[in-house]
Amino acid sequence: MSIQALRGRDFLSLADISTPELNALLQLAADLKQGACTATSQKVLGLLFSKASTRTRVSFSVAMYQLGGQVIDLNPNVTQVGRGEPIPDTARVLDRYLDILAIRTFHQADILEFARYARIPVINALTDLEHPCQILADLLTVQECFGRLAGVTVTYLGDGNNVAHSLLLGCALVGANIRVATPASYVPAAAIVEQARSLATGKSEVTITTDAITAVKGSQVLYTDVWASMGQEAEATERLPIFQPYQINADLLSKAGPDAIVLHCLPAHREEEITDTVMEGERSRLWQQAENRLHAQKALLAALLGAIH
Ligand code: CP
Ligand code: NVA
Repeated sequence: MSIQALRGRDFLSLADISTPELNALLQLAADLKQGACTATSQKVLGLLFSKASTRTRVSFSVAMYQLGGQVIDLNPNVTQVGRGEPIPDTARVLDRYLDILAIRTFHQADILEFARYARIPVINALTDLEHPCQILADLLTVQECFGRLAGVTVTYLGDGNNVAHSLLLGCALVGANIRVATPASYVPAAAIVEQARSLATGKSEVTITTDAITAVKGSQVLYTDVWASMGQEAEATERLPIFQPYQINADLLSKAGPDAIVLHCLPAHREEEITDTVMEGERSRLWQQAENRLHAQKALLAALLGAIH
C-alpha cells in the first residue's frame, strides 16, 4: 500500500512523494477529517521554526496531540541553534530524542542537511524554496470543492516562490492543470518548472506567464500569496506597483470560470494581493483551506510515523 511506504521518510519537497502516495495521503486526510482514528503512541514531534508561524505551528501541534503524541517547541532563540551550533551536530542530537522533526527556515539546503544527518523523518514546514505541507491542505480543499483533482485548472497569481513552487509540483503530481502568472522578474525557479513539467507529462498542462488576465480565463481555482515573503519585508513597498496587475479582485475573478473558488495560504495583506471583498466573498474557501492544514498534516504525521496499519 502506498501509505505504508511513507513510514520513516522525509518530506522536504512535494516531489518527495509519488502520485499514488500523495493520493493515499489525501484520502487519509479526508478520512481523518470525517473522524477516523489513528494513534502514534506517545511519539514526540519537534518544531524548529526560524520564521514566524500561526497555522503551521498550531496545526502541527494540534495534529500531534490528537494522534496521542507530544510536541516540543525548539525555538532557535532558546536552543543552541540560534547561537550557531552546526546542523550536523544538532541533527544527530535531536535525532536521539525526537521521533519526527518539522523545520521552518530560509535555505532548502539547511533542511537537506538536517535530513542527511537525522535518521528520523524531517518535514519541510516552509523554506524559501518550498511549502509542501501547505499544498497538501490546498489539494484536499480542491478535492472537496470539485470532487476531483485531475483536470481541474488552478491559477496562481503573484510571486513565483515557495508556495508557487510546491503548488506547481503538487498539481503536476495529481494531474491538475497549473498556470502561474507572475511579474517578469519574479518567475518560478526554472528547475522547479522543469520538474513540474516532467511530472505532468501526459497528465496535465504547466503554464508560466506574465499575463494575469489570460491566465485566469476558464480557471476553477485562483490562488495567491503575499507579494513580499518572510525575509523580504524591506522590498515590500517597491513591489506594490509591480504586483498590482496580479491582485485577486472582483474584476479579475469575474474573468475566471463561473465555478471558480479563491484560495490563499494566509496570512494575507488585504487590499494588496487580494481584496477584502474577495476574501470575504462567496467564492472564498480560505477558512476551509486553513482548517485542512490540520487534517492534511495529521495524515502526514501518521504516515511518516508508521501509524497506519
Ligand atoms: N500558511 C502558513 O504557512 O501560515 P503560517 O505562516 O501562519 O504557518
Ligand atoms: N510566501 C510566504 C508564505 C507564508 C505562509 C512566505 O514565505 O512568507
